[in-house]
Amino acid sequence: MKRNANIEQKYQKKYYLLIVFFLIVIPLFIFNACSENSNVDDPNHMLNLEPLKDQFNDYFSIGNIFSPSDIGSGKISNKRITHHYNFITAENDMKPDKINPNRGSYNFSTANSMVNSARASGLQVVGHTLLWHSQIPAWQRNLSTDNTSKATTLQYMKEYITRVVTEFKGRIYSWDVLNEAFPDGNYTSDWKTSMRKENPWFNKIGHEFVYEGFKAARLADQNTILYYNDYNLNMASKAKMVHDMVRDINLQWKTDSRYDGKNLIQGIGMQSHHNTGIPASQIKASLELFKPLGVIISISELDVLSQSWNEYSSNKTLTNEGKAKAASLYGEYFSLFLEYSDIIERVTFWGLTDTKSWRARAQPLPFDGKSTAKSAYFKIINALEAHKKK
Ligand code: GLA
Repeated sequence: MKRNANIEQKYQKKYYLLIVFFLIVIPLFIFNACSENSNVDDPNHMLNLEPLKDQFNDYFSIGNIFSPSDIGSGKISNKRITHHYNFITAENDMKPDKINPNRGSYNFSTANSMVNSARASGLQVVGHTLLWHSQIPAWQRNLSTDNTSKATTLQYMKEYITRVVTEFKGRIYSWDVLNEAFPDGNYTSDWKTSMRKENPWFNKIGHEFVYEGFKAARLADQNTILYYNDYNLNMASKAKMVHDMVRDINLQWKTDSRYDGKNLIQGIGMQSHHNTGIPASQIKASLELFKPLGVIISISELDVLSQSWNEYSSNKTLTNEGKAKAASLYGEYFSLFLEYSDIIERVTFWGLTDTKSWRARAQPLPFDGKSTAKSAYFKIINALEAHKKK
């Protein structure tokens, strides 16, 4: 009997071990292998987080970008957008080449359905952008070199702005009227002679195009907020050019017979396409410079490369140090934005997840390609919690 009982116990033990192996160890192994190797984007990762727009509600709005694939049935169909953001900018579809392919002919259908869908989903829309040197149609680019006179070019510019702003009147919270008017360097002490030569409007009309362009936008829609938008505004020399331009244009407007008591340039968009070499102190210095102008600020196209500009442009592989640095910078930048939330009205990220970014290989956003919150996201939330305790 004793011998038989022993054999039975031995078999029972084996049997239990087999059950454990098939029911627990194998499934665990399979699950692990799947989650590690899968690059499946699961929107639920983002949808399960408290909406960013609610978390920052007391301080500023939170935006992102969208494209036609994010809309459907007259609404924004991408739930990650409607869950987290209350402001939206068209990544490409409201740019001059899309809206105004030929002089006097306009293609508003895609932009209109995007704007209407965003509004139907409760988001405010940023119009991006009217005057630029890039992503413009041939007819605008050619103005730089063809024999159209200065007066006629000015008339074309006013017609174009009036037509576009009127089309969207009452539906656009703010317009980026002028984008990237200054080059990366070679400034004189005078903004009027330091603008980008590739901008056809500057090239043919001269610096007056800025005043005339903003004025045409104001006259077309008195209620939309008019912005100047640019990158590298953390650079003291470039920030100084923008500061002087905004100051002078707003002074000139006060002497205009159409002056309406408001600034003509009401906002500065700091694009903020950053990298690990940009300390928050540089951005703070520019915010201090802009503050006395009495205009509002938006962080309009935020992303932070997980490497320095040199590493990125020489195609270096990402390192863990670089990723950690970008995450901490996100935290530092948000602490700063919160400190200046009396003048900052919006922070817009330029992309939903790393894989959707225009600089995808440097993983510049707070959410990875699976829509999972990265360390950058948690640094942002920590900055918010720390700010609330102050
Ligand atoms: C600039 C423009 C944006 C976009 C980004 C790159 O910042 O303002 O519209 O084109 O470059 O994606």
